[in-house]
Amino acid sequence: MEITRIIRKVCEGFEPYVAGKSINTIKRELGLESVIKLASNENPLGASKKALEAIKSNFENIFFYPDSNSCCLKKALSESYSLPIKNIFTAAGGDEIIELVAKLFFNCDDEIVISKHSFVRYAMSVKMMGSKAIIVSMKKGLTYDLVALLKACTQKTKAIFVTNPNNPTGTYNTKPELLEFLRELPSSDKFGVKPLVVLDEAYFEYALLERDYPNGLDFLEDNPNLIVFRTFSKIYGLAGLRVGYGFANEKIVDYIERIRPPFNVNFLAQVAAAAAIFDKEQVERSQRLIKKEKEYLYKEFKKLKIEYVNSAANFILFSSLPFKGKELFRKLLENGVIVRSMDEYELPCHVRVSIGTHKENELFVEKLKKIHKI
Ligand SMILES: Cc1ncc(COP(=O)(O)O)c(C=O)c1O
Repeated sequence: MEITRIIRKVCEGFEPYVAGKSINTIKRELGLESVIKLASNENPLGASKKALEAIKSNFENIFFYPDSNSCCLKKALSESYSLPIKNIFTAAGGDEIIELVAKLFFNCDDEIVISKHSFVRYAMSVKMMGSKAIIVSMKKGLTYDLVALLKACTQKTKAIFVTNPNNPTGTYNTKPELLEFLRELPSSDKFGVKPLVVLDEAYFEYALLERDYPNGLDFLEDNPNLIVFRTFSKIYGLAGLRVGYGFANEKIVDYIERIRPPFNVNFLAQVAAAAAIFDKEQVERSQRLIKKEKEYLYKEFKKLKIEYVNSAANFILFSSLPFKGKELFRKLLENGVIVRSMDEYELPCHVRVSIGTHKENELFVEKLKKIHKI
């Protein structure tokens, strides 16, 4: 008997998510002594010191189950963002939030509007539920085309994903643009409400340095159809703990709480995140580094005549030409630099580099020059 015959039809065509390879894997695979990883938009300064202290003073308690409701973490988030706990939920990273939203809202005859070149997990969650992803092109310059997203809405549109700033392009939409988008969103006769807007702000703290970057939380009160989510994986340096959080209308939060797995945020993740959210120094140090190093990399790309996209996040998308993205990725890998090729984002002639420490960025530039024979 072929046991795979009983797998749900929608899961049959699934390919595994291609995660950035770890330093140790590359060292082992290529026999390299020194490897740097600029592939997964982690924080080059490491984890929040406050989070590390919290872990040190709590790790002996891991034999207990965690608080299933993440009460202390929610309290910390509520205090930090001045929003009531009833509007806050937590999960094992932004990835789990995307999945929870999909499980809660997406039926098989629903349409979900997604921008081309945006985070791949959205389309995967849609596929998993057997719903239909409607993919909308970006504007020139690889920015979200919010007007085109509106035009793509039909009576069947259940939700729209918006990433601000977007991964992998690093581009963002301004406050007036988002406000107009939310205002103009048509109500569906089929559902009797406006589609859900899932606003992914994984790189929020970095983008705050842009003058006209909007804070999605400002739109919550007027938009009961809005879910905003963020993560501790990026600026707080806690990617390995898997913890994210979201804000929404209390009725949505109530339902998310009903369907999420119990204990979905592990004990150390809860204590670390509850401490990290008050770590101003971590945020400011990281913002300063990324701002400075972004300028350095832009300058070097210009010198090398390599086209790049201005980024509001801690990574830069750049042209791999004359090489294919995959080829340049491979060449950099052989030189001990892990970046990310962009085929799965339908950008076969681009590569994304996460901004590292100055030393790492210099090494990346040196290897790039070597490969381009400059
Ligand atoms: C745009 C975006 N959203 C969500 C995530 C998921 O983050 P995590 O699951 O680590 O919280 C990422 C991770 O790279 C991302 O780039």
